Amino acid sequence: MMSLSGKNILLGITGGIAAYKCPDLVRHLKKAGAQVRVVLTESASHFVAPMTLQAVSGNAVSKELFDPTAELSMSHIELAKWADLVLIAPATANIIAKMANGIADDLLSTICLATPAKIVIAPAMNQQMYKAAATQQNLATLESRNTLVLGPDEGFQACGDIGPGRMVEPTTIVENINNYFLANSELAGTTITVTAGPTIEELDPVRYISNYSSGKMGFAIAKAAAEMGATVNLISGPVNLTTPNNVNRINVKSAKQMYDEALVLAEKSAIFISCAAVADYRAETIAKNKIKKTDDSNELVIKLVKNPDIVASIAGLKEHRPFVVGFAAETNDVKTYALKKLTTKNLDLICANDVSDHNIGFNSDQNALTLYWQNGEQTLPLSSKQQLAKQLLQAVITRYKASHDEKKN
Ligand code: C5P
Repeated sequence: MMSLSGKNILLGITGGIAAYKCPDLVRHLKKAGAQVRVVLTESASHFVAPMTLQAVSGNAVSKELFDPTAELSMSHIELAKWADLVLIAPATANIIAKMANGIADDLLSTICLATPAKIVIAPAMNQQMYKAAATQQNLATLESRNTLVLGPDEGFQACGDIGPGRMVEPTTIVENINNYFLANSELAGTTITVTAGPTIEELDPVRYISNYSSGKMGFAIAKAAAEMGATVNLISGPVNLTTPNNVNRINVKSAKQMYDEALVLAEKSAIFISCAAVADYRAETIAKNKIKKTDDSNELVIKLVKNPDIVASIAGLKEHRPFVVGFAAETNDVKTYALKKLTTKNLDLICANDVSDHNIGFNSDQNALTLYWQNGEQTLPLSSKQQLAKQLLQAVITRYKASHDEKKN
């Protein structure tokens, strides 16, 4: 599975002839879904044009440590914090030596010291420089500090020598980065099932009862979970949204269909997140033909019957019960109602949002949530649903692990 979707990669390019491969490297990283920002050293700019890198990465290229314009858009500290991974390719003997010794005398070497992110380097240099005791010692120092060293490859070199020192190919670099994220993803090996969107309950062949749920929050959760390495099932009511990468989407219409799919998948999942706005009632019978307007009465009575409560049914499973997360969209007394649902539906965690504020909730791109669980709560302030989904999953992981530990003791 190749996906760098949602990952911020800072590519540092230093002055080696292999820098000519960097536009291609950026293209591969972008194709895998990553956001890429490029930092060039002074000597790298002699090998590859900043304009080319700006065009392929879609972002301004940074070069100087003391560039007021660049610092305004993103300072060196912000760049260092922005990165989920710093990749230096090609990495010359010089940058390797600087990193091993903690020297910060230009933008890239400063970022290397300032970043909390994983650092990956793809050394490229003359074979003799690579074999030099100083370089070998510096590489060993970096590896002992958890820097991932890719390559170098052996073969013909630009200088005419033959030996180790060629930069590994861009596709190999991207593959290794992908593997790194996979191996370190918090939810690797965990299956999560998410329900999203509204359900629609048919009245006749042309009419139905539904609600305004857009599905955005559930889709954001599914996307974030997949980016964190989970195997994700997304059971979705009818919505107008694209399926996130690496998410197994199951389309349903009615609550009954959602219930059937959810029950099968929840038993195979470690975590079940019920984000769908499920219709509480459906028509007792769906008329075979279009219901006609009558002249003799001003009323039409349609008998509704209760739909199964999906999340409560899953939380009530005696065997293979996943960790169950519900949502409570409320217009008043949010905390009281949320806590009541937490208990009556036997949930492990409930996410409450106040839908009386029209800037958040149902159709908006933003949301704010308060999470409640037995004896605890956490507020996730107003932010994009994408950002919120990540924070929510972090909280879910913490609670999920805690509940496992509690069961063990
Ligand atoms: O009871 P209420 O609809 O307010 O509860 C909301 C929570 O219950 C949400 O997590 C929603 O997905 C879930 N739910 C469900 N099946 C229903 C009704 C609600 O799973 N029939």
